[in-house]
Amino acid sequence: MPANEAVSVTEALHRRRSVRAFSDKPVDPAVLEAVFAAAQRAPSGGNLQPWQAVVLTGAPWQRVKDAVAARIALGREGYQPEYDIYPKGLTDPWESRRFGVGEALYASLGIPREDKKGRLAQFMDNYRGFGAPVMLFLHCSRIMGPPQWSDMGMWLQSVMLLLVEHGLASCPQECWAMYGVTIRETLDLGEDQILFTGLAIGHADEDAAVNQWPVPRVGLDEVIDWRGF
Ligand SMILES: Cc1cc2nc3c(=O)[nH]c(=O)nc-3n(C[C@H](O)[C@H](O)[C@H](O)COP(=O)(O)O)c2cc1C
Repeated sequence: MPANEAVSVTEALHRRRSVRAFSDKPVDPAVLEAVFAAAQRAPSGGNLQPWQAVVLTGAPWQRVKDAVAARIALGREGYQPEYDIYPKGLTDPWESRRFGVGEALYASLGIPREDKKGRLAQFMDNYRGFGAPVMLFLHCSRIMGPPQWSDMGMWLQSVMLLLVEHGLASCPQECWAMYGVTIRETLDLGEDQILFTGLAIGHADEDAAVNQWPVPRVGLDEVIDWRGF
């Protein structure tokens, strides 16, 4: 989509998707600044605005990738999650939704279930930010609770929709939280901070199959309980 083309909120919602292949075209920092300035209008309980972000490109972004790669090389020993990315013992309907989207993603790339190596390689591409030239790490004070984490989510979605408006693409990536301590230390965030998620930002590789499959959603009957209408 051409940058600055007028786009409605509905259109931006439909156009946004998690992009998992980026071109190496650089991102204009002035555009990012406009996006973050507008995203400051995101609501938050008590107007706390608990979100904080580090935005990286070039050498500082490479330093994080290198530091995380060193942890990954340690295998399971290297994991440092500071929160549960999913609830322990996730049940249906949520487990099926999670499984379903993974299968659809691998199907788009023609990687069958038996191809464990292929699936792992695709997952590990997360730790290159799928080739994005810009990475945003979203964090907040460790004292914040579920309401403030939901505020971070509202800010994140605002950023993602604004990026669409500017012709950019993104992929939220909580997989980085598996190495949260390393990222905190590499970015000098301080122990009072907790990393929520990464957000890969760049121009989508429009030809990549991984950016083209239809991402399912459940019907309204599963989520909305109308009463008194
Ligand atoms: C907070 C958050 C973290 C996510 N983390 C990852 C991730 O680590 N890796 C990944 O490939 N996708 C990640 N996703 C993308 C989800 O899989 C995706 O949003 C969901 O499947 C719906 O697809 P869509 O975003 O393309 O509409 C994340 C999404 C959110 C909101």
